[in-house]
Amino acid sequence: MGQGTRYSVGAMLLHWAIAIAVIVNWRIAASAEQLEGAARSAVMADHFALGITILVLTAARIAWRLLHPPPPLAAHLRPWERWLAKTSHALFYILLIALPMLGWIAMSLRGAAIDVWGLAWPVLPVGSAPETASTLFDIHATLGIAMLVLIVLHVAGSLKHTLGDRDGNLWRMVPGIGRPRA
Ligand code: HEM
Ligand code: HEM
Repeated sequence: MGQGTRYSVGAMLLHWAIAIAVIVNWRIAASAEQLEGAARSAVMADHFALGITILVLTAARIAWRLLHPPPPLAAHLRPWERWLAKTSHALFYILLIALPMLGWIAMSLRGAAIDVWGLAWPVLPVGSAPETASTLFDIHATLGIAMLVLIVLHVAGSLKHTLGDRDGNLWRMVPGIGRPRA
């Protein structure tokens, strides 16, 4: 594995920070399902704060990607594999923006500010429409499930390449193994 086959260290760190945050945020939302009232609100407040944190990290990641283009996909991939990799990565970015944006817009339609670890996140100037907010949260929950399906496919694809084809796919994204780009 030489230069130009691995992601930059910044891209790796952001990838794993966002991956962990997304999985934790899904578990937080799932654990709130059994709760009601104040207990549910307290747990969901963490879901909102971590969700906005993911939005900020994703914006940083996209900016980083523009400045540090990713390595080309492995040369041995077939055209449909390239298409699948590129499409699934694009879908991830769309969902990483759409999920928290839907949450933020819906909260704003309820006139509610999000407390991001003590920082009052701004309310968007979208007016008041609680019913639309509920619809947006329904869409949010559905897209959240779509994200989980995509994660399963993504991990399965990476493990198939790394363990089955032994093409070192995972090491493109792991810091400290091999020689990352500066
Ligand atoms: C759980 C949430 C996750 C999200 C949202 C996510 C998202 C992404 C995205 C968007 C890319 C494309 C990077 C780019 O070109 O800009 C990527 C690449 C990659 N991810 Fe993940 N990922 C997640 C979890 C994982 C996990 C658990 C693994 C471990 C198997 C993994 C392994 C990889 C690898 C190896 C690549 C590089 C693929 C290549 O270019 O060959 N990811 N991920
Ligand atoms: C990338 C960040 C986020 C991810 C991955 C995510 C993911 C999820 C998932 C998986 C669910 C559970 C769906 C279910 O099992 O029914 C959920 C529910 C929910 N999320 Fe998020 N979320 C994110 C950000 C946010 C933000 C920023 C807000 C609000 C500001 C928010 C508000 C909610 C609400 C209110 C629910 C409950 C919806 C319902 O059950 O109708 N989420 N989210």
